[in-house]
Amino acid sequence: MAQLRSFIRKLEAEGELRRIKQPVDLSYEIGAVCFSELRKGADKNQALLFERINGSFTPLVVNLLASPKRFLAALNLTSVRQWHSFWLEKTSRPLNPLLVKNAPCQEVIRDRATLEDFPIPLWNEKDGGHYLTMACVISKDPETGRRNCAIYRMMVHEDRRSAGILAPPYRHIAAHVAKSSARGEALPVAVAMGVSPALMIAAASDFPYGVDEISMAGALDGAPVEITPCKTVPLEVPAEAELVLEGSLTPGDQEEEGPFGEFTGYYSGERARRPVFRMTCVTHRSDPIAVGSYVGRPPQENALINALTTEAEIIRQCPLPGITDIHINPLGVLNAVVAIDRNHAVDAAQIGRRILATAAGRRIKNITLVDEDIDPRDHDQVSWALAYRTRPERDVEIVKGMIGVTVDPSLPREERLSGTNRTSKMIIDTTRKSPEWTAEQCLPKREVLERVEREWKKYS
Ligand SMILES: Cc1cc2nc3c(=O)[nH]c(=O)nc-3n(C[C@H](O)[C@H](O)[C@H](O)COP(=O)(O)O)c2cc1C
Repeated sequence: MAQLRSFIRKLEAEGELRRIKQPVDLSYEIGAVCFSELRKGADKNQALLFERINGSFTPLVVNLLASPKRFLAALNLTSVRQWHSFWLEKTSRPLNPLLVKNAPCQEVIRDRATLEDFPIPLWNEKDGGHYLTMACVISKDPETGRRNCAIYRMMVHEDRRSAGILAPPYRHIAAHVAKSSARGEALPVAVAMGVSPALMIAAASDFPYGVDEISMAGALDGAPVEITPCKTVPLEVPAEAELVLEGSLTPGDQEEEGPFGEFTGYYSGERARRPVFRMTCVTHRSDPIAVGSYVGRPPQENALINALTTEAEIIRQCPLPGITDIHINPLGVLNAVVAIDRNHAVDAAQIGRRILATAAGRRIKNITLVDEDIDPRDHDQVSWALAYRTRPERDVEIVKGMIGVTVDPSLPREERLSGTNRTSKMIIDTTRKSPEWTAEQCLPKREVLERVEREWKKYS
């Protein structure tokens, strides 16, 4: 299976990764370099490997999956057209992980290590602290033992042996915390950094509660993920990880966390008391590579992973025959454009509501439904449909009291801070309604148009 190191080699060979030998500061400089690199655009930016970081012996690789090409390469795909069918096929057969001993991630075992020993940047000017942004947080449901693995931002606290987590109530670890708190127990947690790219993708995907992302990563890679027992907590972690933090979340143990420059392009998830992960042990390879991701104004990695996995997961969680395609633009991942086949007896608005009710669709705030003749990836075509096929009083539905995304800065402040995260959502149905729709699309006479296109050289 493609591990982090082989993926780095592959990206470097393909010119998709650049080594930065210039010494850089953890505070702001790495963030600024990442920001400038990402401004080149989704197709031109490279992943960056910072080899010399002031005050750290450990190199840091960032933005590994911040371009569609690299995201697809992580799964051995070459075209985005393969993406949805690949996802549906692979995720239908999760592969259980394989338990191994003698794991590379435990070459070094340290009881007293601090988070200062590793390169964790201060990314944006007003971030509340240094943030882990690309680490997989692993925990288990205290009742069922089902595992969850997800990426949540983690702010290093002053003691350097603990970190605050932003995981709103709709997040699966929040359910684990609630259940362990009800039992008066601490929740064991492991944080794995430098896992395989397939696991990074699975961990960032909004699967329904109870799905084991490690088994899904095995399915995506076509080989089980090797896992190994932690040293101080009853959890297993990917054996090939670069670095693992072991610890727990204790009921009621909270400290101030935030703000943080989020994928929305705003400081979101403002400073508030949030659960604290306290470390019991750190294990790592003898020469670990740290992994980070610049989170901030799109285009960036988080938004791209978000967009692609949400598209595919909505199709998986909402298997209606009427849905032919979905596009989520990484620059505004709360908006989805959904193409619908009118030959199926489906009500378009009904499809919109079904999508919003899925685990993956919770993220979406605005859905634009288009007929199958409109390419949802083509903004010009979507704009054409919006302009000439809709009548707002009939075709726009506002659904109130839905759960949104906690870092959406448009949510009322009390909703964000209380964790209820309620917002309204909008479904715009641009599909042509028969029998009322009678307009005929104008085109030149067909035979003449075909002849002109065939003989185009004559005219050019
Ligand atoms: C780089 C990156 C950072 C992320 N940070 C957060 C975060 O701080 N909080 C959060 O709730 N989701 C965050 N996400 C999204 C979650 O990882 C993703 O939605 C995941 O499916 C949540 O898992 P869960 O549904 O098992 O809780 C991040 C994703 C990426 C790629």
